[in-house]
Amino acid sequence: MRLLFSSRNLPTTSGTFGGFPEVIRVRGITQFHSQWRKYSTKEPPSPPTTQLEGKHYPIDEWTNIPSHISSALSRKLHLQPSHPLSITRRLIESRFPSPTYQYHNDLSPIVSVHQNFDSLGFPIDHPGRCRTDTYYINKDTVLRTHTSAHQADTFRSGTSDGFLISADVYRRDAIDRSHYPVFHQMEGARMWSRNECGASGGVAAVIREEIESMPKHGINEPLRVRWVEAYFPFTSPSWELEVYWQGDWLELLGCGVVKQSLPKNAGIPDKIGWAFGVGLERVAMLLFGVPDIRLFWSLDERFLGQFKGGEVSRFVPFSKFPPCYKDIAFWLPNSSSAAGGQVPFHENDMMEIVRNVAGDLAEDIDEFTHPKTGRKSLCFRINYRSLERTLRNDEANSLQQAVKRVLVEEFGAEVREKSEK
Ligand code: PHE
Repeated sequence: MRLLFSSRNLPTTSGTFGGFPEVIRVRGITQFHSQWRKYSTKEPPSPPTTQLEGKHYPIDEWTNIPSHISSALSRKLHLQPSHPLSITRRLIESRFPSPTYQYHNDLSPIVSVHQNFDSLGFPIDHPGRCRTDTYYINKDTVLRTHTSAHQADTFRSGTSDGFLISADVYRRDAIDRSHYPVFHQMEGARMWSRNECGASGGVAAVIREEIESMPKHGINEPLRVRWVEAYFPFTSPSWELEVYWQGDWLELLGCGVVKQSLPKNAGIPDKIGWAFGVGLERVAMLLFGVPDIRLFWSLDERFLGQFKGGEVSRFVPFSKFPPCYKDIAFWLPNSSSAAGGQVPFHENDMMEIVRNVAGDLAEDIDEFTHPKTGRKSLCFRINYRSLERTLRNDEANSLQQAVKRVLVEEFGAEVREKSEK
């Protein structure tokens, strides 16, 4: 069983082999711990590390990356030529031509807290910085939560007026058909000299015009979109573009006029410009008619075999296998949820536990009771469903048992019996 790693259980080392790095399995993450013994003098052990993309990173009480996330780092779906995400990327790129726009498609997902938050003016208490929302490698290093993490560096490099950055991004998030903890964004930005374009109102008008030029190929139903005023720490004014999808308004992109502090800090104070960040999965779901975000991760030929580089085609669903609902209700200890820990239980912790146990067999999770006075009681309905086969009830039951075990052992939860619900 894969388990969640968090500060609640810091890794401990066991027997060492002099001179060789020791590999430790800690709650689903492989840690490498070098301990070097020299004759009678024992050097202090070096801190435990984790290996990601071939590099070792120290881990600490901020580390919270489970194996199902670290294994996604190598997939690079936006670069697979026949994958819908790559086709979508290229389509959008074709609207923002080179050399005005330079494309960056292979920037490492491992960035500093400074790049991801500070360089963009995120206040220190911004909720996005929480461990419940962001995957930390350690207190200074994260898996980027958005492609904006590269804005400041790319502005500073100054190699083109505009750029498009396409990349995988990582967020601890809900489980449902339009959310996945790893998804892909494209960041677009364009700078002008101030004297070229006048007031920022001019830039705002250009943004809307350019962004609405996004491809709308083959979308059968009339696309219902709306602009919503938004807030991002690094743009002002800011907007979101939402699209109506399966009965709900879904955020497609965020954008705005880049705040002056960014070009100023990047050494180009006389420039002004706009930036947007668009979710590639969301655009691809509309373009190709893909009904469930998990499908993008499928290795099933019935999915992958349907698409061809450069072509937008409608996804033909293969049979939808039956779902299997399982409910779970539990009490949490009063002040903190974690057995022996200080960190309060967050809905995203539940999502993470289920993803660790069930992987992509969890289709969605609903919270359907509210905390009561005194002890906190939570109740979730987990919908298990395989995209590729019929899931047996006993399989779903054993996944559910595994989820319960994690809740009890790691969060000190007391699972409520059916009669109590
Ligand atoms: N980075 C923002 C997000 O992920 C989107 C954004 C990009 C907003 C660029 C404004 C400008 O939500």
